[in-house]
Amino acid sequence: MSIQRGGFSSRLGFILAAAGSAVGLGNIWKFPFEVGQGGGAAFVVMYLVFCFVLCFPVLVAEIAIGRKTQLNPVGAFKALGYKNWAIVGYLGLASGVLILSFYNVVAAWAFGYFVEILMGHFDIGQRFSEFTKDWITVGSYSVLFMIGTAFVVSRGVSGGIERAAKILMPTLFVMIIALILYALTLPNAMDGIRFYLVPDFSQITGKVVYSALGQAFFSLSLGMGALITYGSYVSKKDNIVTAAASITLLDVGVATLAGFMIFPFVFSQGIETDGGPGLIFVTLPGIFESLGATLGVIVGALFFLLLSFAAFTSTISLLEVPTAYMVDEKKMKRKKATWIVAIFIFLVGIPSMLSVGAVDGLTHFVTLAGAGEKNFMDFIGLIASDTFLPLGGFMIAVFTAYVWKKENFNLEMANGDENHRRSWLQSYVDFAIGYICPVLLGSIFIVTVLDNFLGIKILTMLFG
Ligand code: TRP
Repeated sequence: MSIQRGGFSSRLGFILAAAGSAVGLGNIWKFPFEVGQGGGAAFVVMYLVFCFVLCFPVLVAEIAIGRKTQLNPVGAFKALGYKNWAIVGYLGLASGVLILSFYNVVAAWAFGYFVEILMGHFDIGQRFSEFTKDWITVGSYSVLFMIGTAFVVSRGVSGGIERAAKILMPTLFVMIIALILYALTLPNAMDGIRFYLVPDFSQITGKVVYSALGQAFFSLSLGMGALITYGSYVSKKDNIVTAAASITLLDVGVATLAGFMIFPFVFSQGIETDGGPGLIFVTLPGIFESLGATLGVIVGALFFLLLSFAAFTSTISLLEVPTAYMVDEKKMKRKKATWIVAIFIFLVGIPSMLSVGAVDGLTHFVTLAGAGEKNFMDFIGLIASDTFLPLGGFMIAVFTAYVWKKENFNLEMANGDENHRRSWLQSYVDFAIGYICPVLLGSIFIVTVLDNFLGIKILTMLFG
């Protein structure tokens, strides 16, 4: 394959790259604070059900569409012969641009924390709001981060993305396990575990369902065609159903572990669980400090460095989608496309960067009927990750089952082999994509959008 499109060199390469895309700030930064805001274990249960029951089949569908057409999300729908459905691809491009625009800012925080801890500034946890307000510092790190991302993407998929993912993912995994073991030795650790594991279902509101579904999509990098794009680089011989299952398990596994790490830390320090986006940034530095000056710097700096890398494999996948679009559809050279898109997204991200303390009007941006006050960054998250992604997922499910048709989808899952014997997983995906996903995604979407934006509480009206 040419360098313009590229291809993964192995099956493991694809799984690692897709898992690298999935595992990122969404697992370690966003998941814990969403659990904290969503009332704990009840959120976790919903998130798990959404990931396995609703998202996994859509994940297979995205990879199948990508591999079948070998194209970006816009081109893919056109190539299958359904021009109008390219709207799903355009929605995906918009989601990708918006998500990367704020994701890059949070990645800059993570990298900034690496530098601060390396310099022994353990008090950075208490100075979180000062830090995010300092737009010159955050801005510099975010320029760096975007340049790094663009550099890798401009070199093509197998050269950059795959190699980076292979080394860094396992290291992060080991580090989190070690921190969990430490967390469990701390006072009040068990209160944290209880908050995380014992559900109180009275906590479930439309707002919580909405963010749990959005979180499931966000965490799996699903609903915007990132996996159509990555799927387009997958070999025709790979089993995409088991590959999707591995990706789901890995991603959910890392998020779940992050919770086991964070909540004992939060409770041992007596921090409020509903602190929002600052949760890990406020909590972790004090923990690292408790390890002593030397060990604390080593462990703390390494942790934020690896978190930055995890974010990096995700920003790569976010930038890859609009870049692949420009390369395939606009016939632009990969290098040029990458840099143009990167600069554009950086500019789109400036208001987000300024909305965490620096500029008042952006910090207190809107107050929504259901979701409450949001700064600009959180508002973009609400639109792009919690709204566009599940909507995109719904449309992908409907498209796959009723437009592209299940015969074609099944044939793609079977790698073109008509006599293939279906696994139970494939049978589930086949059933879910036509019934469970469209019905549940569609209804949850409508109910929660009404709740969040207009304050119409259908769940409360139905269940009291
Ligand atoms: N899933 C990544 C995370 O959890 C973020 C991400 C990367 C993403 N690519 C995406 C989210 C595409 C949505 C769509 O950090």
